[in-house]
Amino acid sequence: MRWVFAYGSLIWRPDFPFVDRRRVRLPGYARRFWQGSHDHRGTPDAPGRVVTLIPNPHAICHGLAYQIEDESVFVALDHREKNGYRRTTVSLHPEDAPRAAFDATAWVAEPGNFAYLGEASIDNIAEQIANSTGPSGRNDDYVFELANALKSMGIDDPHIMELNDALHAISASATNHSEGALKAT
Ligand code: BEZ
Repeated sequence: MRWVFAYGSLIWRPDFPFVDRRRVRLPGYARRFWQGSHDHRGTPDAPGRVVTLIPNPHAICHGLAYQIEDESVFVALDHREKNGYRRTTVSLHPEDAPRAAFDATAWVAEPGNFAYLGEASIDNIAEQIANSTGPSGRNDDYVFELANALKSMGIDDPHIMELNDALHAISASATNHSEGALKAT
């Protein structure tokens, strides 16, 4: 049996069968909305942004590991993450036994892949996400779901929480503007 590392949408929506699930940490990596999405939360003409793992010696990425019995899950995830991700092996530490370690498969989008967008300010990332939608839904919903899932696990990931706050501010300001426009008519 093998393990899959979940650090994005697989945290709140694992759409595959698993036999066990553990809270884990991955030292040396930061979760960042630096990968373009042409096929899930955006389109080729107007890409959205989704998460990838960026090497950072000071960071720890907290997430979940799923134990998988059915090998077809890996094939399905290869297909689902075909937009610039590649399979790699990471060494995870259980949150309740940080000295222990075990290997898991992760899908990582590295700099230089065809859909990579890279670093930008939180405001610019939020603006792009607020205006993106794709076959899997609105890009801002992806951020809200991820932030809520991390909060419910007690995980404070500043990049995600700042983005979540920026997107709520954009959404509140859009609501105020449209209410103002309605009152004016
Ligand atoms: C995830 O953990 O949800 C994930 C993120 C990027 C690619 C594949 C899976």
